[in-house]
Amino acid sequence: MSDKGMNLTLKIWRQKDSKSKGKMETYKLSDISEHMSFLEMLDVLNEQLINEGQEPVAFDHDCREGICGMCSLYINGEAHGPDRGITTCQLHMRMFNDGDTIVIEPWRAAAFPVTKDLIVDRSAMDRIQQAGGFISVNTSGNTQDANAIPINKSDADKSFDAAACIGCGACVATCKNASAMLFVSAKISQFALLPQGQVEAKERVDNMVKQMDLEGFGNCTNTGACEAECPKGISLENIARMNREFIKSAVLKDK
Ligand code: SF4
Ligand code: FES
Repeated sequence: MSDKGMNLTLKIWRQKDSKSKGKMETYKLSDISEHMSFLEMLDVLNEQLINEGQEPVAFDHDCREGICGMCSLYINGEAHGPDRGITTCQLHMRMFNDGDTIVIEPWRAAAFPVTKDLIVDRSAMDRIQQAGGFISVNTSGNTQDANAIPINKSDADKSFDAAACIGCGACVATCKNASAMLFVSAKISQFALLPQGQVEAKERVDNMVKQMDLEGFGNCTNTGACEAECPKGISLENIARMNREFIKSAVLKDK
């Protein structure tokens, strides 16, 4: 371990609000420890900016342990930066070298307008979720114990894997079409694989896909970039499953 920290040049997208035109600004940071997290490095920058009487850089974060999906930075042209299977808050400065220039931008997608600096509005994903990403259960006291319903182990595992999606939006930011299909398919799959999800299956896929289109996300052209950059390893298999669910729903409608 070197006892001297890194000297870095940061190029960061600054934008006052959603109506203003943004631009890249350059900042210098010195003596950054390789053990710091990426967000801690930004905290150091913000302290420096505040001490200089400048406006700190606005960025989203919450849990800082890869759970909530809030952190959302495009770092050197990659969603969540150069490491794999992690969120921005799990990225460490040891992935960078002394003298590096790091370019930091917000998610870029028409459906994710920038609200300030590195923060984008991801409420489009919430509206898709609200359109059908749930099951309606009567919680009056007569609810059947979930463990009393036998579920094939392989289906349970696949459902659990799909449920690992944290709604970060990296799949959208990475896709050249700004498609949200990996996200939406994960939210549909986690229920499509379970008996509890069957009652509302048809309405769920119809309403969520409809909302996805209304929000202005692009189409999937099978480049696989979303799967490669997803911090939770959500598989493209989910998109195939969503398409099957959608076709099944259309066939049932015709009957
Ligand atoms: S599918 Fe992956 S990249 Fe997309 S929102 Fe979910 S966790 Fe994030
Ligand atoms: S801050 Fe919660 S996942 Fe990064």
